[in-house]
Amino acid sequence: MCGIFGTINGSDAAPVLLDGLGRLDYRGYDSAGLAVLDKTIAVRKLGGSVDALASLIRVRPAEGRVGIAHTRWATHGAATSENAHPHVFDGIAVVHNGVIENHDAIRTRLQQDGHEFQTSTDSEVLPHLISHHRRRGQSAVVAVQSALGEVHGSYAVAVLMEDIPDLLIAGRRGSPLVVGHDEDGGYIASDPAALAGYCAQYAALGEGALALVARGAVLVMDQTGAAETPRWQQVPSLTTVRRTGAGAHMAAELAEIPAAVAATLAAADRRVGRTGLEAGGTVLLTACGSSRHAAAIGAHWLEHWAGVPTRVEIASELLHRPTLLAEAAHLVALSQSGETADTLAVVRMAAAASVPTAAIVNVAHSQMAREAGTVWPTLAGAEQAVAATKSFASQLAVLARLSLDVAEARGTLSPVEAVFRRRALERLPSWLGQVLDGVDHDALSEAVKVLARARTALAIGRDIGAEIAAEAALKLAELAYLPTLAVPAGELKHGPIALLEPGVPVIAILIHGPTLAKQVVSLEEVAARGAGLILIGDDAALTATHGIAALRLPLPPVADAVAWAALPLGVGVIVQRLAMMTALARGLNPDRPRNLAKSVTVE
Ligand code: M6R
Repeated sequence: MCGIFGTINGSDAAPVLLDGLGRLDYRGYDSAGLAVLDKTIAVRKLGGSVDALASLIRVRPAEGRVGIAHTRWATHGAATSENAHPHVFDGIAVVHNGVIENHDAIRTRLQQDGHEFQTSTDSEVLPHLISHHRRRGQSAVVAVQSALGEVHGSYAVAVLMEDIPDLLIAGRRGSPLVVGHDEDGGYIASDPAALAGYCAQYAALGEGALALVARGAVLVMDQTGAAETPRWQQVPSLTTVRRTGAGAHMAAELAEIPAAVAATLAAADRRVGRTGLEAGGTVLLTACGSSRHAAAIGAHWLEHWAGVPTRVEIASELLHRPTLLAEAAHLVALSQSGETADTLAVVRMAAAASVPTAAIVNVAHSQMAREAGTVWPTLAGAEQAVAATKSFASQLAVLARLSLDVAEARGTLSPVEAVFRRRALERLPSWLGQVLDGVDHDALSEAVKVLARARTALAIGRDIGAEIAAEAALKLAELAYLPTLAVPAGELKHGPIALLEPGVPVIAILIHGPTLAKQVVSLEEVAARGAGLILIGDDAALTATHGIAALRLPLPPVADAVAWAALPLGVGVIVQRLAMMTALARGLNPDRPRNLAKSVTVE
C-alpha cells in the first residue's frame, strides 16, 4: 500500500506533490508527508489525510523545486507524524512503500555504528543505510543500490538528497513504481494515472530496477545495474474526481452501478473466441474481500449453467495450497485494483505451475492486467471509495456473461437459448436503476436505525444468498464498524443461534428458489428468539415470509429470463447501501474507514 509521488520540474514542488498525493490517497490515508529541497530539505508530515497535510502547508509553507511525497497505510508503527514519511537522515530523505523484513537486523547493525533512530518503523532504516554507504565513499547512486541490495522484502522508494538537488532516485522490488518525464520535468509515482497532466508517457520499473529522474530525462538501470531502455506507455487519462463530504464517493459510485454494468457487458460483447474454461477440469476462482464474494456468486453460475466444477479460494490461503492450484485446469483471479498482493501472488504462482490464468480486473494498466494470460475487463471506471460497489456489480456482470458463454461452448446451453439469455442480461442496467431509485425509503431508514444502535448483527442466506450475506457482513464491519457474523442459514442451528437475543438484528437475504422453504424455517427460528429481522429479497421470496414479523426491503419485479443474475446484483446493491447509510448514521465516513486502504499491496 502507500502512495509515492516525486517531482523535479523547476516549479514550486509542494502544490504538485499535494496534487499527486490527492490522486494516490486510495493507497492509504493514515498519514501523509512531503520533503522539498531548497538548499536544505524541509519536511512537513503528520498522522492524517492529504487534506490535513495541505492545511499544514498553508500554515507552514515548504519551498523547493524538487520533492518527494507519501501517503501511508501503516505496517510498522502507529499512524503518527513521527512515523509518517519522508524519513530523513543526514540530508537524505526517503519515502517507502512495502515491507522491509530484515529492518531489525539492519537497525541493530547500524546502532552499533552509532546511528540513532527516532522511530521503530522499518522504513526509517533506509536513509540511515544509504548514509552509511555514502560515508564509506560510495556515490549517491551506488549507495542507494547497496542499501536496497541489503533489504529483504518489498520496496518502492523515492530518494532525495541535499547535495544532489537536480536528481531524484527511484527503485522498486515487489511494490509498484513508475517514472515519467516531459521536456522540463521528471516524475515518480506509484500509479501511472497519478501522472496525468504532468507527462504524456510513463515507464513501469522492472523488479530490482533503479531510475535516475532529472528534469527532462530518465535513466533506468535493471537489477544488475546495466542501463536499460524504458518501455514507454501512454499515461492513462485522469479518471479520479475530487469529492468532499462523508460518503460522497460511495454514494456516487453506487449511483454509477447501472452505467458500469452496461459498459462492462458491452465490452464482453466485443470479446472474440472461446474463454478456455470450456476445456474441462476444475476452474479455480481466487480473490480477496468483496471480489471473492463476487467470485463465490460466479461459481454458482458457472456450475449451474455450464456444469463446470468450480472452486473459490481466498487468495492469501491459496498461496499455501500449491497442490490445489497445480491441479486446476484454469485460474481466474478477480480484482478491482489489479494490485492486491495476495491475488497477484497467486496469479504468479499459477503461471509458474503452467496453469492458464485469466483476470477479471478493473484497472486496465494494473500489474495483474499485465501479467494474467487473459483479461476479462470490468469497465466500472475509477472507484475511489474504499468499499467495492460498482466494481463488485461489474464483476458479477462479467461472471454472468462468462457462465453463458462457457455453457454455450460446452453445449449445456443451446446457441438459441444462449443468445436469448445474453440479450436478457442487457436489461440489467435499467433494472438496477430501478433498484436504486425504487427502494422503500421508510423501511431503509428503519433498518438503518436498527443497525446503527446494534452492538452485533448476523447476516444469513442460503446458496447464492449466503455469499451475499458474507458481502453484507464485510461491508457492515468495514464501513459501520458493526461486528456482523455471516452464516449460511442452515448452519445457524449448529452454533451461531446462541448469539440471538433481542437487540441483535439478523439480515436475511432471500432469493426465491428451491432453498426458500428451508430458509423460511430458519427465519422462524430467529423470530422465536426475539431477534429483529431485516429481510432483503425479491417479492416472491418476501411473500413466503409473510407471517413473520420483520422489516422488509423488497426488490422491484424483474423478468424471469434475467432474474438469476439480477436478483443477486440487486440484493448486493441494497446491502451495500444499507452499510453506507449505517456508517453515516454512526457519524462515520464510509469513504475512508479506519485502518483500511483501497489497494492492498502488501501480503
Ligand atoms: O482490488 P481488489 O478487488 O483486489 O480488492 C480486494 C479487497 O481488498 C476489496 O474488495 C475490499 O474487501 C473492499 N474494501 C470491500 O469493500
